[in-house]
Amino acid sequence: MTNPFDIVIFGGTGDLSLRKLIPALYRAFREDQLAPETRIFASCRSQKDIDSYLDTSSLALQQHLAAEEFNIELWEQFKTYLHPIMLDIAIVDEHWSALKKVMDSDTDKVRVFYLAIPPAIFGQCCNNLDEIGLITANSRLVVEKPLGYDAASADAINTEIARYFEDDNIYRIDHYLGKETVQNLMALRFTNVIFEQLWNSKSIDHVQISISETVGLEGRAGFYNDAGAMRDMVQNHLLQLLCLVAMESPNKVNAKSIQAEKIKVLEALRPMRGEDVAKHTVRGQYVAGSYFGELVSGYLEELDSANSTTETFVALRAYIDNWRWARVPFYLRTGKRMKARCAEIIIQFKDVPHRVYDDSAGPLAPNRLVIRLQPEEIIQMTVMSKNLENMDMQLQPATLNLNFSDTYKKFRSDAYKRLILDAAMANTSLFIHRDEVATAWGWVDPIIEAWKQAGTAPYLYRAGSWGPNESDELLAEDGRSWFNTGEGE
Ligand code: BG6
Repeated sequence: MTNPFDIVIFGGTGDLSLRKLIPALYRAFREDQLAPETRIFASCRSQKDIDSYLDTSSLALQQHLAAEEFNIELWEQFKTYLHPIMLDIAIVDEHWSALKKVMDSDTDKVRVFYLAIPPAIFGQCCNNLDEIGLITANSRLVVEKPLGYDAASADAINTEIARYFEDDNIYRIDHYLGKETVQNLMALRFTNVIFEQLWNSKSIDHVQISISETVGLEGRAGFYNDAGAMRDMVQNHLLQLLCLVAMESPNKVNAKSIQAEKIKVLEALRPMRGEDVAKHTVRGQYVAGSYFGELVSGYLEELDSANSTTETFVALRAYIDNWRWARVPFYLRTGKRMKARCAEIIIQFKDVPHRVYDDSAGPLAPNRLVIRLQPEEIIQMTVMSKNLENMDMQLQPATLNLNFSDTYKKFRSDAYKRLILDAAMANTSLFIHRDEVATAWGWVDPIIEAWKQAGTAPYLYRAGSWGPNESDELLAEDGRSWFNTGEGE
């Protein structure tokens, strides 16, 4: 169980809070990880929101937790942790003083200020906390990705919040790092000699990192249409996964060592400008399609707008210019309304250098390591083997299959639960350093700029497909193809 702490969620009635944070805290409580003196203050903007807060939260929990997780007795206990409070970020008034009075009952207790609000008001919110005297030595600030809109705005936000909080007390979240399976990626690489010896351009042909989603806008049109898939997913989640796949071994598993290694990878990403961008990237936008016979609208219809060139899909070919990864393409792909929900990393090994069997033994498939992060947590390795039922020498691929859901039956991943508790306990290793944010934007910004300059519309793809044809062509140019879950190559 963690030591008791106070968490103040700014934006307490917003989407992030109700969909992710309150369910994460409920899970922590259910799993005996919230000490009874822990308090959850959720900022509301009207008396009406306060009055209905418990009902709203209970509804959100029922919607966003698995059916067996929610039960009324637990809820009755959990709700005593919840304290909706009136707070307007635009004015420091008596409500802020009231919060201070309540929190000052214990000035040594850890305080987590979670900004589930638009970045434009981060500065004002921190200023209020400072002005009213709420920031103590044990206070931590949690902010969400994407931090900013580009390198300049991210820098402005980081500079602003650094006026109020020491860097060690700023926790920049990328919830992918909180996924247990993502942490397992590091464990896999750095605790097994068999992988690390082969983890380089000598043995690896290419890497694919793909996060496909079946959801569409989910009521986030305002944010998403400004951001697009590049800012929403590639700048953070995909580049973080790329870093974990490509980085050198950290000296220790602590924030400083891990962040330093990740930054080296981001710095080694080959910059793309002008024509390179057209050559190595594909943008897409979904049009109406169907899932299992059920029709879904296209992006523009969901947006209720006649035109938007925002991309809901990105595929790209990236290179990491360092000794380990020279000439190994990293293909990244993400999209909304794709055929299946899946996040996975494919390590495609090279062909054997010399074939010892006759052609009659059949074709050889090079080894492939599949690390699936969701929906199931699976590691698969394909190896060539002899068909044992055939007297003749016939070769065929066989799969070594490690399914973590079988091994860890009680496992239920909740990245936000883990990250909130980590922030409360000052475990910083799964958070992002300011320089990572800056370096990632530094690579992404010129790509977005080149798209803007080119002024071309995204390619269209049908909802329920694997993205536009041009995404397949990107790999076909190199004689490769996407590994689509459940379909093989
Ligand atoms: C968020 C993005 O960071 O990650 C969303 O803003 C996306 O657009 C979500 O849907 C995906 O997260 P997960 O954990 O469901 O894969």
